[in-house]
Amino acid sequence: MIILKSVITTKTTAIAHSNTALIKYWGKRDEELIIPMNNSISFTTEALTTTTTVEFSEELTKDNFILNGTEQTGKPLKRVVDHLAIIREISQTNVKAKVYSENNFPTAAGLASSASGFAALTSAATNAAGLKLDKKELSMISRRGSGSSCRSFYGGYVEWIANNEQNESYAIQLADENWFDIRDIVVVLKTPERKMSTRDAMKLSIKTSPFFKSRLDTLDTNLAKIRLAIKERDFNSLGSVAEMDCLSMHSVAITSNPPQIFWTPDTVKVMHFVENLREEKIDAYYTIDTGANLHILTIPKFEHEIVKQLEEKILPEKIISSKPGPGVKVVNEHLF
Ligand code: ADP
Ligand code: DP6
Repeated sequence: MIILKSVITTKTTAIAHSNTALIKYWGKRDEELIIPMNNSISFTTEALTTTTTVEFSEELTKDNFILNGTEQTGKPLKRVVDHLAIIREISQTNVKAKVYSENNFPTAAGLASSASGFAALTSAATNAAGLKLDKKELSMISRRGSGSSCRSFYGGYVEWIANNEQNESYAIQLADENWFDIRDIVVVLKTPERKMSTRDAMKLSIKTSPFFKSRLDTLDTNLAKIRLAIKERDFNSLGSVAEMDCLSMHSVAITSNPPQIFWTPDTVKVMHFVENLREEKIDAYYTIDTGANLHILTIPKFEHEIVKQLEEKILPEKIISSKPGPGVKVVNEHLF
């Protein structure tokens, strides 16, 4: 990356969408540079968004981070400050920044707020710092804030190429959001506060789960199957492999010490609900990240029937139905 000294310009706002992993990223080869053990594949989730405004100012003595109207301290603030430090180093400045951000969906509940959060922050902050970077460069910077965020720079279906060096681990687009129209019905349940962050849970799994290595051995085959399913718009193959990989990731998490069980009884109820849908010849599969909430994957013609049955049989806190969405955008309306 060749960077000329940047000029701190102006307040910038970016909108990023979260992403739903079909093949999960679970485990890092390099904790500091955030280089994963395996490639992962996701689609960008249109309905789950983060909007972030960043302004650098000589008048500030420290960075401020306001999320959904609340001034952040502790770990969430430190993650943002550390990320701004990477961007300041690239742009050769030490000016502090004000960061306002809004997530339109629950934070730290397994719906990848860190993905949309760091993609929006990276895009807004690099622009505000006057850097002109392409998506590959942005995805590599963003990865250092939160790994999965590197996949949110592109719309549609995206693969994060693991590799093993800072300048070789980045996201690429496999197909855009118009290529293959699927639905992600996000089932938001009553979620107990998570005891451990995704980051710490993942680290624990590498160290303690006897199944970590076995999962890695399955990944090349499953990555190839998902790439092909996207290419051929084969929903049943995409859904069944994604569901299997979700169970494989959770098997590793559950067998970590101490066990990382993100599901609640309601999560399991929805898993059985999805199995029953398949018995009724409704094409549906689930995937779950690090929380009790689930994503039900389906095709547009079954969307309404599944939402109707969810309302009758499960009564979740909220149902958010999403299509594959676009990549990060810079917009003109600011949050402050
Ligand atoms: P999730 O499943 O929501 O991604 P994680 O534990 O991986 O859960 O990430 C949640 C953390 O990501 C938050 O505690 C906070 O540190 C960070 N985060 C969430 N939203 C934002 C945002 N909009 N801007 C910056 N950081 C964010
Ligand atoms: C289960 O990207 O949140 O959602 O890189 O430590 O910030 P850090 O982790 P993060 O992990 C996401 C894990 C996952 C699977 C996935 O999105 O691929």
